[in-house]
Amino acid sequence: MLTHQQFGTSVDDAPAAADAEQARGPLRIAVIGTGYLGAVHAACMAYQGHSVVAVDADAGKAAALAAGRPPFFEPGLEELLAEVAPTGRLTFTTDYALTAGSDVFFLCVGTPQQQGGYAADTTYVYAAARSVAPYLTSDSLVVGKSTVPIGTAAAVRDTMAALAPAEVTVRLVWNPEFLREGVAIQDTLHPDRFVYGVQGPTAEADIGLLDRVYATSLADGTPRVVTDYVTAEMVKTAANSFLATKISFINAMAEICESAGGDVVKLAEAIGHDERIGRKFLGAGVGFGGGCLPKDIRAFRARAEELGLGQSLAFLHEVDGINQRRRDRVVDLVAQLSGGGHAGVRVAILGAAFKPHSDDVRDSPALSIAAALQDRGAHVRVFDPKAMPNAKHVAPQLQYAADMWDACADADVVAVLTEWPEFRTADPVALANVVRRPVIIDGRNALPGSAWTAAGWTYHALGRAAAASALPRKDSHS
Ligand SMILES: NC(=O)c1ccc[n+]([C@@H]2O[C@H](COP(=O)([O-])OP(=O)(O)OC[C@H]3O[C@@H](n4cnc5c(N)ncnc54)[C@H](O)[C@@H]3O)[C@@H](O)[C@H]2O)c1
Repeated sequence: MLTHQQFGTSVDDAPAAADAEQARGPLRIAVIGTGYLGAVHAACMAYQGHSVVAVDADAGKAAALAAGRPPFFEPGLEELLAEVAPTGRLTFTTDYALTAGSDVFFLCVGTPQQQGGYAADTTYVYAAARSVAPYLTSDSLVVGKSTVPIGTAAAVRDTMAALAPAEVTVRLVWNPEFLREGVAIQDTLHPDRFVYGVQGPTAEADIGLLDRVYATSLADGTPRVVTDYVTAEMVKTAANSFLATKISFINAMAEICESAGGDVVKLAEAIGHDERIGRKFLGAGVGFGGGCLPKDIRAFRARAEELGLGQSLAFLHEVDGINQRRRDRVVDLVAQLSGGGHAGVRVAILGAAFKPHSDDVRDSPALSIAAALQDRGAHVRVFDPKAMPNAKHVAPQLQYAADMWDACADADVVAVLTEWPEFRTADPVALANVVRRPVIIDGRNALPGSAWTAAGWTYHALGRAAAASALPRKDSHS
């Protein structure tokens, strides 16, 4: 049973909490694409009282969700599916025909990085739009949630207009999504803002209909920003560019600290007290990864280039570069801590997901570091509490361990690259008994370093003085 604290309202409370518009009755909603975003969105919309048909092109995914077994790990999702199932308000299918009669069609398909380029691959968005078009009426609304390049919303509307029944005026809002994996349900039920990109003669009615979808959250006071299409498209990529820049900023400071002998964690604490800067997203370490930040900053830059505006976003190239260098830094550090080379060094890689509380390994720093070490002749053994199936799928060449202890058995170097609670709270005394050499790299500045040092470990955290001491120092006095 979901608690009020976790999800704000219970299923039974939801209609009561809604405003007068909602009293006109819940809506029929279609959700296209049920990955990390769409599955959570579908479940949350049903939880808030709407009737939802969720379509995915992947039959296995649809079947697993229909059976209440999410095909990926997101905390609370399985419980939410179980709570919503008895209401009969949530259907997972591969059949677009079941979306006929929907009031609102959410487009939640992926927009990955193009093969062999930096731009976003929007083919899934257009495919979904083409599949939805025959089911549109002049009363229904299409709502794009995927992260897309500037100009996509208008082009998607034109694509659907060409395929919709002749008498239909296609209505479309772009409504970017800001949920964070690991807390996706909380973020969907209690977002920090809604952004509606609207355009055209139906804009006012479109806003009213989307307000009915989000009536529960709006009644809770969630701010709503109404923009044109281009601004809405940019809000998402601008937000992710800002966050990526903040992470790479502190990681650039980490590079300086490592050479000059400073402590980036203290530095972040000190500058973070300035409320214009803030402490959040100033966690120095192996940098960002996942299915959003890396590909979003690259796609934003690629689109700016296409628009002749490359210079405006040229700095994102450096943001990406700093991020990649942090991975290289760990690879180099392993060699430094092992007498200069990688060949034959046994490395325990703790973590494979790009962040804790997720099984998402897309552009994962941990897996990229593990692969680079193995390429250089190290023997790596990877363990992650939730991401093992995905990791084995994308990096089958790596060796995987059964648990943290197994990964660390006879290791020369242990590298904590995803800050899962079980790694943060690992017992350094007990772990020292299973490794060959007690040497640990804290790739996320997540461990209590003094406890590890007290237990006899050589403890190296990125961007901190202890790590710097292992480096050849460029001393201006010598
Ligand atoms: N994952 C996040 O944390 C997050 C947060 C905010 C925004 N976004 C954005 O949301 C979008 C989706 O991201 P995701 O992480 O959920 O991706 P995902 O790869 O996990 O899911 C996409 C799903 O769409 C399905 N799909 C593809 N084409 C389809 C079609 N024509 N018809 C039906 N289903 C189709 C795929 O089978 C897959 O299940 C992306 O644009 C992403 O940038 C993601």
